[in-house]
Amino acid sequence: MHPDPKAFTLLGPFTQLVTMAGLPLAGPLPDDQLEVLEQAGLLLQGEKIAQVGPYAQLRQTAQENGYRLQVLEEPLVLLPGLIDAHTHLCFAGSRARDYALRVAGKSYLEIARSGGGILDTVRKTRAASLQELVQTLTQRCNRHLAEGVTTCEVKSGYGLTVPDELKMLQAIRQVDQSHPLDLVPTCLAAHMRPPEFTQNSAYLRQVVEELLPKVKAEGLAQRVDIFIEDTAFSEEEALWFLQLARELGFAVTVHADQFSTGGSKVAAEVQALSADHLEASGMAEIQRLKAAGVVVVVLPGASLGLGMPFAPARQLLDQGLCVALATDWNPGSAPMGDLLLQAALLGAAQKLTQAETWAGLTVRAAHALRLPDRGSLEAGKLADLIAFPTDQYQEILYLQGKLKPTQVWKRGKRV
Ligand code: NIG
Ligand code: FE
Repeated sequence: MHPDPKAFTLLGPFTQLVTMAGLPLAGPLPDDQLEVLEQAGLLLQGEKIAQVGPYAQLRQTAQENGYRLQVLEEPLVLLPGLIDAHTHLCFAGSRARDYALRVAGKSYLEIARSGGGILDTVRKTRAASLQELVQTLTQRCNRHLAEGVTTCEVKSGYGLTVPDELKMLQAIRQVDQSHPLDLVPTCLAAHMRPPEFTQNSAYLRQVVEELLPKVKAEGLAQRVDIFIEDTAFSEEEALWFLQLARELGFAVTVHADQFSTGGSKVAAEVQALSADHLEASGMAEIQRLKAAGVVVVVLPGASLGLGMPFAPARQLLDQGLCVALATDWNPGSAPMGDLLLQAALLGAAQKLTQAETWAGLTVRAAHALRLPDRGSLEAGKLADLIAFPTDQYQEILYLQGKLKPTQVWKRGKRV
């Protein structure tokens, strides 16, 4: 049986279509490896891409078969939707006061030690209802989608009690189900020890024994994360915790080497899906991650929010790692949340090729989340598409995030 021709839509013509197809998932990428099709079209079938190719040819096929046409008049460059592989988008309240203290000279860790920081957001998130979390998360997802993000990882970690962590994960699930953006939930109950506990180990035991089995049973997340740092959890605690999370059936990821090294060692030892942050990593840490095959996620928004150096993205690529770029959008260290702008600034500072930056935002970010169904424009992949009003793709990063997509399609639907 032939599929209904009305199930097919031809989109185009696009002045340029950057497919991100055929790129190695790790290591340096010269720009001449980017596949850029000129005067190209894209045939959609439902939520997927059926074919990519020269517009004139696809148009003829479409006319012969009675497919729908969506003709685009202005010059447009088409790319895969952006994938934000690390965020803390679900939270209540603001930490503008922390930011003022930081720019006046106090450090992030000093503010955390004096009861501000993450624990301040924990108080506000606990006080918020599920509906309030759903509403503010929806607003942030609206902005992200408008700026071209079509898949977004979201962590819990501001509840830090069994019911409040579940509330956060439920809010993430509700928004995933009601919003076009695909959300990938991660349980970050091991963000920090909450004030009710005096010992990290006792708190982590509660997470393992009470919370994670519920998260698993309700299917609220498949991934578990931990923050390894002086003010959060030690390497030993993390190793113990992540191994148990693994045994419960979770995939694991790590907040590693943000201020001090140590997390990367744990990430390598447990062969985490990804090690995220790495601002403090040196060559030894990088080589250890490489040897263990750990994907790395670099978070320029946290460097910008904290006024600290970027992670060594250039070195990470040169040492052969898979580098994804994400916002870390959160109320404390990374309040801005503009993925394209942050990637452009990181690229300028770290001398990333355009191919490396775009791969980090698309195919390599998909790999960080182990989502092989997206991240490039190829037959069979999800039709998550973003179109920019320009005639050459280089304009986009050149304008450092100020040129936004004017059209976004999520799973084949214009949003
Ligand atoms: O990735 N480093 C720990 N967690 C977040 C910050 C969370 C917060 O400050 O609220 C991060 O930067
Ligand atoms: Fe983070």
